[in-house]
Amino acid sequence: MPKLPESNPYKLKVLGIAGSPRRDGNTDHLLHQVIAGASSHGAKTKTVILSELNILPCRHCDGCIKTGKCVIDDDMQWLHTDLRKADRIVLASPIFFMGVTAQTKAMIDRCQALWVIKYVLKLPVAINPDEERSGIFVSVGGTSLRNLFQPAMATVKSWFTTLDIKYDGELVFSGIDEKEAILRHPTALHDAFVAGQKLAAVNMPK
Ligand SMILES: Cc1cc2nc3c(=O)[nH]c(=O)nc-3n(C[C@H](O)[C@H](O)[C@H](O)COP(=O)(O)O)c2cc1C
Repeated sequence: MPKLPESNPYKLKVLGIAGSPRRDGNTDHLLHQVIAGASSHGAKTKTVILSELNILPCRHCDGCIKTGKCVIDDDMQWLHTDLRKADRIVLASPIFFMGVTAQTKAMIDRCQALWVIKYVLKLPVAINPDEERSGIFVSVGGTSLRNLFQPAMATVKSWFTTLDIKYDGELVFSGIDEKEAILRHPTALHDAFVAGQKLAAVNMPK
């Protein structure tokens, strides 16, 4: 695939999703840096804070099964559109009981309507299906358990697959528990900024 010229006017749309209920906590700081890194590479960025949105859990009512549209009228309606438009997604969630937070899981489960679009209606999930979409998972956990991030990563990978987003890896830190412990980590914030730059540096379109 030839590289795009430097003057390529296409601006990558990068969507950051803050999944922690703790504002200005560890994953918020990491996400902020990833988004700053992407922005420094010319990406158009937007961050949504799940704990400030009204997102009910999926009811498995099958109301979406014929249309691909969720019948619950809350913030997920516009977030579905943002998820379908994004070129890059950065999902940030700390580990809660070995998984993602309840706010994050509610948002993921509500993407069942997008699963219907893809697997039942057999229509493209992405608004621009010709453009490559990718995303990363950003996380921290208070403990240093082996395989701490594996269950959450499995959830995120499954969600990305449904959204036709290539899983581009994770940026995770264990042993980070206090609210701003990540600020004392020797490399984390820099690592996050660089991850954002890399995410936005990939050439478009596919
Ligand atoms: C309800 C709850 C469950 C948690 N479960 C785990 C866990 O299973 N494993 C772990 O390592 N840390 C766990 N933690 C600790 C958080 O992952 C940790 O405090 C993290 O730094 C929070 O990130 P934040 O500041 O971005 O919210 C839990 C914290 C809470 C409040």
